[in-house]
Amino acid sequence: MKIQDDTTGFAALEKHEWSDAAVAQSYARAFAQAADMVVPHLVSAVKAGPNTEVLDLCCGHGNVTGGLVNKGAKVTGLDFSPAMLEMARKAAPQARFVEGDAMNIGFEAETFDAVTIGFGMPHVPDPARVVEEVRRVLRPNGRLAFSVWCGPEVDTALGYVFGAIEAHGHPDIALPPGPGANDYADPAISFPVLEAAGFKECHCTTVASMWQVDDPGAPYDYFLEGTARGGALLRPQPEKNAVAIRDAVIALVMEKHGGGPLWNVPIPAVVTAAVAV
Ligand SMILES: C[S@@+](CC[C@H](N)C(=O)[O-])C[C@H]1O[C@@H](n2cnc3c(N)ncnc32)[C@H](O)[C@@H]1O
Repeated sequence: MKIQDDTTGFAALEKHEWSDAAVAQSYARAFAQAADMVVPHLVSAVKAGPNTEVLDLCCGHGNVTGGLVNKGAKVTGLDFSPAMLEMARKAAPQARFVEGDAMNIGFEAETFDAVTIGFGMPHVPDPARVVEEVRRVLRPNGRLAFSVWCGPEVDTALGYVFGAIEAHGHPDIALPPGPGANDYADPAISFPVLEAAGFKECHCTTVASMWQVDDPGAPYDYFLEGTARGGALLRPQPEKNAVAIRDAVIALVMEKHGGGPLWNVPIPAVVTAAVAV
């Protein structure tokens, strides 16, 4: 029961989970089919091209890195998970990869023309610190774009799973305190932080990303096996609770998206972009 072993809080939980090769590989294999749909939006938001030097923060298995490389950009991927970086090096061999912390980027000021962060913001203990670091390493007029999953106020698999955990999960299983998983999908939260750090022209768009699955319980499986917070909440559940949570997700998917044999399950994301002053 991993969550009970965690004594150093949210940061340690995130590092521990993403460094687990099984979690990293499961994210890349299944969960990221929706994240991959967001890649072109990040790539175009930073105007990546042959003359741009781009830092892909929280690069994971290299899906955004690969999209940037395909546009001819010179790309550096940064992630703190060796398991993720191993996959990223294979996915985008033309890029350079470094192991590091997004909250303490080890590059000189004004090194990059653009920074992308694909679904990294919810995983750092202090997203505002990341925004400051990004501003520091960007050249003036450099571009930042980051993606964050929409919260449960819209129709999303994320809401189905976390709603089912709330309804059927064991009450003793909780996460250590950390930033809200969907905070930076909300411009009321992200824009003031961006502006305070020295960004202008903030804007955001919603991407209708989704999973096509052949099992209505797949969203449960994807969060269980391929995420840090979801895994930490789902893996320690006693069997009775786990079954109830998965059944509730299945019921929601079938109620909202029909009887199969394939289900298109929405998991939309917000892409936020801004320009360094
Ligand atoms: C949800 S995955 C996103 C992967 C990929 N960018 C995408 O768009 O699908 C989050 C990634 O952030 C990395 N990560 C989380 N916190 C980090 C930190 N403080 N510094 C560097 N990487 C971090 C994890 O190792 C993981 O690879």
